[in-house]
Amino acid sequence: MSNPLSAKFTLNDLRAARASGRKIPILTCYDFTMARLMQQAGVPALLVGDSAGSVVLGHSSTIPVSLPFMLELTAAVRRGAPNAFLIADMPFGSYQASPAEGVRNVVRMLKFSGCDCVKLEVAASHTTLVSRLADAGVAVMAHLGLRPQWVGLLGGYRSQGKTAESANDIVSAAVQMQKAGAAALLLETVPAQVAAAVVAATEIPVVGCGAGPACHASVIVTHDALGLTTSRPKFAPLLSQVDGPITAALAEYVRRVGAGEYPGPEHQYEMPPEEKAKFLGQQRR
Ligand code: KIV
Repeated sequence: MSNPLSAKFTLNDLRAARASGRKIPILTCYDFTMARLMQQAGVPALLVGDSAGSVVLGHSSTIPVSLPFMLELTAAVRRGAPNAFLIADMPFGSYQASPAEGVRNVVRMLKFSGCDCVKLEVAASHTTLVSRLADAGVAVMAHLGLRPQWVGLLGGYRSQGKTAESANDIVSAAVQMQKAGAAALLLETVPAQVAAAVVAATEIPVVGCGAGPACHASVIVTHDALGLTTSRPKFAPLLSQVDGPITAALAEYVRRVGAGEYPGPEHQYEMPPEEKAKFLGQQRR
């Protein structure tokens, strides 16, 4: 049984969750149909992640994902789930060149897609951008810990914050982002103690993605949770293995067409009898 999301979920609800201890589930979403189902299932917040680069486009990293692609996906998800708190991932290259270009591209995302918040994979050098966006009234989620857009420098997708020094760096960066005006933080694949320290050092909502139970919200890639990916990170729960039923349904279509069972009489359109007679008569001439 699901409880549809019948009222708009807002940043204030996320802030209230931090205060009350209510844990908020967030899922990635990339299209209208799934967004509709997510609203039906009562998912309060959706992230149009640049993980679309792998699960939608089949790339091995998020680097090739473009801004126009993210704009279209985010707008589609907005149409499917008007009540969700909608977080749009800004793709690699859309905010790195300069704060001015970053602001322009974020404004484009907000106007085109109707999202409620933008997520940026940040470092200290993005403080100016985050504060300019906050000054303009934009809700920014600052993504720290494992930042997949940094794969070139990181050399892979390893969990972050595993030494005392790097853990302290993450906590300092989180405090710096809050000071700059970030509305929320996202911590990806960091030890639970690091997330707990970030929660203790800040006052804004902290979303965890493989960051343990101290966070106020949790986000996972939906395709992982539905058993649609070929490898699933350890922190992602398997909620249902739907690849089997989907493949079986597709194979059934292949079988029905091959066997001449589809299309059947119930799938055909008929002409009105007089038009049919006229048409067939014309064909015989
Ligand atoms: O792109 C994405 O889906 C993300 C989440 C994994 C946090 O950034």
